[in-house]
Amino acid sequence: MKKAVDKLTAGEAAKELERLASEIAGHDRRYHGEDAPTISDADYDALKRRNDAIEQRFPLLVRADSPSHRVGSRPSEKFAKVVHAKPMLSLDNDFTDEDVVDFAARIRRFLGMKEDDEVVFTAEPKIDGLSASLRYEKGVFVQGATRGDGAEGEDITANLRTIKDVPLRLHGKVPEVMEVRGEVYMTHKDFEALNKRLEKEGRQLYVNPRNTAAGSVRQLDPSITAARPMHFFAYTWGEASKLPADTQWGMLEAFKHWGFKVNPLVRRAKTTDELLEFYRDIEARRARLGYDIDGVVYKVDRLDLQERLGFVSRSPRWATAHKFPAEQAETVLLDIDIQVGRTGKLAPVAKLKPVTVGGVVVQNATLHNEDEIARKDVRIGDTVVIQRAGDVIPQIVRVVEEKRPRGAKPYQFPHECPVCRSHAVREVDEKTGKEDVDRRCTGGLICPAQAVERLRHFVSRDAFDIEGFGGTYIETLHEAGLLKEPADIFALPRKQTQLAKVLAEKRAEQSAERRAREGKDAVEARSKKKDEGEGKLVENLVAAIERRRKIGLDRFINALGIRHVGDTTARLLARNFHAIGAFVEAMESDDANEQLSAIGGIGDVVAEAIKDFFDEKHNRKALDRLLKEVEVQEVAAPKTSGSPVVGKTVVFTGTLEKMTRQEAKARAEALGAKVAGSVSKKTDLVVAGPGAGSKLAEAAKHGVEVIDEDGWLKLIGG
Ligand code: IVH
Repeated sequence: MKKAVDKLTAGEAAKELERLASEIAGHDRRYHGEDAPTISDADYDALKRRNDAIEQRFPLLVRADSPSHRVGSRPSEKFAKVVHAKPMLSLDNDFTDEDVVDFAARIRRFLGMKEDDEVVFTAEPKIDGLSASLRYEKGVFVQGATRGDGAEGEDITANLRTIKDVPLRLHGKVPEVMEVRGEVYMTHKDFEALNKRLEKEGRQLYVNPRNTAAGSVRQLDPSITAARPMHFFAYTWGEASKLPADTQWGMLEAFKHWGFKVNPLVRRAKTTDELLEFYRDIEARRARLGYDIDGVVYKVDRLDLQERLGFVSRSPRWATAHKFPAEQAETVLLDIDIQVGRTGKLAPVAKLKPVTVGGVVVQNATLHNEDEIARKDVRIGDTVVIQRAGDVIPQIVRVVEEKRPRGAKPYQFPHECPVCRSHAVREVDEKTGKEDVDRRCTGGLICPAQAVERLRHFVSRDAFDIEGFGGTYIETLHEAGLLKEPADIFALPRKQTQLAKVLAEKRAEQSAERRAREGKDAVEARSKKKDEGEGKLVENLVAAIERRRKIGLDRFINALGIRHVGDTTARLLARNFHAIGAFVEAMESDDANEQLSAIGGIGDVVAEAIKDFFDEKHNRKALDRLLKEVEVQEVAAPKTSGSPVVGKTVVFTGTLEKMTRQEAKARAEALGAKVAGSVSKKTDLVVAGPGAGSKLAEAAKHGVEVIDEDGWLKLIGG
């Protein structure tokens, strides 16, 4: 324990203030300057508090370089949030030539075009940096933001101003409001020079140019960003009061005109062959470009067609990323670890001898499942080829059989859960008789691994997003019996004494372990430093929990961890049912399945899983408990203000002549309508084209209004 402040002598106080000044300055540098903090926020705050307390008692000893002179402490949220006026979306990934052919075919199909109808695309390099949105009002740069989660990013205006390629004022005629979006990146040359400098200064090095660019624009001190040479290519836009062109190509021309850099390799292409030719050409030049790219991007050139094509969940139908093949390396498989997921799935993870692939050190790779291991005949001790593509988990491509050690045995996949020892089985699909690829633990509620994973999912970023509530806390609190199910998390604020006790015990246990490993002194020094952090830790956790008592319906549904329901499906459900009460009621009604299958994008398997979830009594109980703790906010219906069909159930039948069925459905859904496949008493409107058959009779039977395609277009305003 450190000596209490009121027991310090002036000499001791002076010494400690000196030590604190240098220690805190070190933490500031690592946090702000290097994006690589070495202590928690709570510990950092404790240091600052101790410094302040000593200064208060010995005002004459306040140093010129005291951390208390610096304004603002380390904020828990570094930058202000910016809600994007238009979301920043991502792209679908294509990997093969066939994927690209399918992409072009899908577009023609959606638009009702024939195979030889011309669609012009732009083809652009896919820059591997980080995307940023630059907002200009009356031609003046007023705000810059990171992508964040697509809906909300961080305000990094001051940092973006330091980048030469970001014009502060645009040339020529510019719309009143114009958000230009593109990629911030760093060249190989600048990246290497920066790392050389950091190495000389004995500081931590960056792993690749992209991470460096990301770290650099997220510096709190813009002078650090300014010292890092970065660039910007403009390639798309967000909110705009008026568009200067009606094609992607024209937009890029306008960007150039206004003073932006646009990638010089961008081309227009009319056929899939031309797209693929572009891909191969860029791939051949890749190593000589001087900056990282990870593929190429194809976009439908005409903006009116883009508009019609619209989006599927978070990516546009009118664009795709054709990625370059992943980078590969050889290493040794040291062991296979079996991890148990929240649905009980036993996931084999390869433990590898660390190896660098594309600038990143890799030690783990996924082995997918039992069949994959058998198919590739992966054995412990084998030399394996691994590959890494973008941010996805590295994979094992194949075994280098010539290097197999003598005596290596085929891997036996366990038939019991490594955590709770329950049987692990492969379910057989009743309908198809096919065995599931995954082996699952049958322990269900008694399996601690599953419970912990469910809780972990519950607090994760796309669900309740409880800050700082990382994996180790959950495990510790679960073990201690404080956390069994989600509602328990929200009971923690009422159990702070217990919470502090459990965390303190865990820490004592950890330092005992460490002491055994590293020797006494090192550990004592560290744990002393942390002593004052405990109370603050609990305080922070409780505050983070309290902040999330209100939650949007989409996140809430995702958090429930229903099998097959991820964030995309959760969003669909939320948009469809609007409120938690309506959702639960619908799921408990007799026609739950019918209501689910009426939602585009929800298939049989998913509908079945949702029903199963609600049929399970303990799930209902857990849900009710949870609903007593949190307030689930309704989601607004999509941009449907003034939409004449919001909330209506519409059925399309017969041949549509002005648009494809798919496009009609997408537009109806965008206007807040539900599109169903069959007519029932719940149908509000039937849109019938030539050749409509039995559905018309059904409509007549239920007295449902029937209109033709023109009537429909008139109704929805063209
Ligand atoms: S267009 C709605 N064009 O790739 C389409 N993106 O996976 C918005 N990217 O978040 C993106 N080069 O960071 C587009 N020429 C390019 C790009 C590009 C790189 C990045 C961007 C985006 C990600 C999508």
